[in-house]
Amino acid sequence: MTNFKRYTLTAALPYANGPLHIGHIAGAYLPADTYARYLRLRGEDVAFICGSDEHGVAITLGARKEGVTPRAFVDKYHQLMKKAFEDFGISFDIYSRTSNPVHYETAQEFFKTIYDKDLFIEETSDQYYDEQEGIFLADRYIIGTCPNCSNPNAYGDQCEKCGTSLSPKQLINPRSTVSGNTPVLKPTKHWYFPLDKFEGWLKEWLIEGHKDWKTNVYGQCKSWLDQGLQPRSITRDLDWGIPVPLPDANGKVLYVWFDAPIGYISATKEWKPNDWQKYWKDPETRLIHFIGKDNIVFHCIIFPAMLKAAGEYILPDNVPANEFLNLEGEKLSTSRNHAVWLHEYLQDLPGRRDELRYVLTSISPETKDADFTWKDYQQKVNSEMVSILGNFVNRVMVLTWKYFDGKVPSEHELPGTDDRRKRVLSLYTQAHTDLDKAVKDMADALKNFRFREAQFQMLNLSRIGNKFLADTEPWKLAKEDMEAVGCILNYALTIVGNIALAMEPFLPDGAASICKQLSSDLKQSRKNFWEKEAMVHIVPQGHSLGKAELLYRNVEDTEIEKQTERLKKHQPVVQAAAIDNPVKPLKPEIVFDDFAKLDIRIGTVTAAEKMEKSNKLLKLRVNDGLGGRTILSGIALHYTPEEMIGKQVTFIANLAPRKMMGTESQGMILMAEDKDGKLKLVSPIDEVSSGSQVS
Ligand code: MF3
Ligand code: ZN
Repeated sequence: MTNFKRYTLTAALPYANGPLHIGHIAGAYLPADTYARYLRLRGEDVAFICGSDEHGVAITLGARKEGVTPRAFVDKYHQLMKKAFEDFGISFDIYSRTSNPVHYETAQEFFKTIYDKDLFIEETSDQYYDEQEGIFLADRYIIGTCPNCSNPNAYGDQCEKCGTSLSPKQLINPRSTVSGNTPVLKPTKHWYFPLDKFEGWLKEWLIEGHKDWKTNVYGQCKSWLDQGLQPRSITRDLDWGIPVPLPDANGKVLYVWFDAPIGYISATKEWKPNDWQKYWKDPETRLIHFIGKDNIVFHCIIFPAMLKAAGEYILPDNVPANEFLNLEGEKLSTSRNHAVWLHEYLQDLPGRRDELRYVLTSISPETKDADFTWKDYQQKVNSEMVSILGNFVNRVMVLTWKYFDGKVPSEHELPGTDDRRKRVLSLYTQAHTDLDKAVKDMADALKNFRFREAQFQMLNLSRIGNKFLADTEPWKLAKEDMEAVGCILNYALTIVGNIALAMEPFLPDGAASICKQLSSDLKQSRKNFWEKEAMVHIVPQGHSLGKAELLYRNVEDTEIEKQTERLKKHQPVVQAAAIDNPVKPLKPEIVFDDFAKLDIRIGTVTAAEKMEKSNKLLKLRVNDGLGGRTILSGIALHYTPEEMIGKQVTFIANLAPRKMMGTESQGMILMAEDKDGKLKLVSPIDEVSSGSQVS
């Protein structure tokens, strides 16, 4: 670790397709920020790089859904995300975006470099095509049944249910996500990256060379490599993206996963136009990618192979990917609005940035998926941040003001051999040993990306501090031995200062508040602290302290209730039921026009009888306000004809008539299928006149 000259830290470029939520933060940005802060405190040369990922289907489909151009769409979300990161205090050196001209140039140049080495495979093949929309269907433009787990809504690039990476042709019953149509095959030319040719090298570099990576990361890579690698298409037929820089590539753009990781390089260029190369080409630079687990393959296998193919670039030395964060026991979901949005958090709970950092780090999904709950948030803030950390700092400040008028008391060792002084001395020695160990354990954990553990050790400093105060009881000694009280408080203030230093990577706002209270920027101590990885001297005797202020405040029940209420509002769908009686997955998205074509109406049943020779069908006469119509409905097992008479039903009035068993059905009655398979009529809660239209 010490033999690197500088660090390039990247955090996954988030798609500019929606606001950031706590899952993003816990997965990549907070651990990356904690690490970047830690390195800077040690005085390292750090480039902490991020930006918006503005290409690909996540963008074009999102824009389509909002009815705006991809350009307007990314502009909106890029600004929103950039601001949320800033407001939250993520300390990127640059937050760029992949629609910047410098990125276009860099990505195209990168492509050309590999192209000129004659490494790409150029191939024309049949691809799925949506004739109605006039577009080729790759990635999330196509949906179908997963060949691996039978999930009916697997995407053309991946099944989100079982995680298998797919190509469109592997899907069973493929359909276009845009029109819902079954696609046809049509030839088109694309460029492929020969990943297979890098298999041997990857095995050597990764499987042999990086046994030190986290087991979740290493394991996923190994299973990929064990399955064997295939060439991967790196171009797409889309009108949004970076044009393939070849004369015969009209209308083709780079695949988003080809251009996006190059975005790390372009962003570094944008940040340091004349000095970026050392962050990417000097073998003494340590490259580390912070990502969530869904990005492992791209950062551990594909991007390294691309870097290797282009040549001259350094390779990632570590990829400390996190597992996922859940919310209140359920998957975070943008589409169901089951999320804690960062910008909303910052608005609703102003002045509580550290609190979110603390809780997310303490449940960080480092080795397995983790769960965020508001109750737990409240509990951790109140009983750890306030009662342990804040309380210790405050006690020391208040006592120093009380007994020494805010001046740092004696820093000399306590003379004397009477029992009382001996006891104070031995408690001091014990505390000192424990504190040094906690600092060392914290630093070791930080170096190994074990941020949960590191933060736990950071908090331990105040646990030890509290114990030191409780054991020495300076408020009792004050009556008889002020010299001893001075020594105790001097050391307690030293602990407070060291706590501030230790907090800086994790809880920067609280650390700044302590500096203010100590009336010192701790500049002299900081470097020493991270170099020695042990307790350091803080402020000299006689130094005047600032006023005491509370570091953190309790989170009240009402604050938590507001958040859980808000979450419920986000979720129009019946909650949790899905866990034991799976709700059918959603059908592909439709546009408003699709819906508007349906003429749905309410009618009143005037007559009903069983259909001969059918045990399922009822023949109903329905008053539709237009003279009535006959509808056959498959509800005979669920309702008797007598029950049906007088009921109001919802039916599709403009469905083409259909003959069943010799009788024409002039519409379709809507039913809900309950979890046990029973059909229930869908009727208006209050009676309406027959023929009323539903919209
Ligand atoms: N936008 C991708 C996602 O959110 C991550 C891209 S990371 C990069 O999953 F390396 F490609 F930039
Ligand atoms: Zn699957």
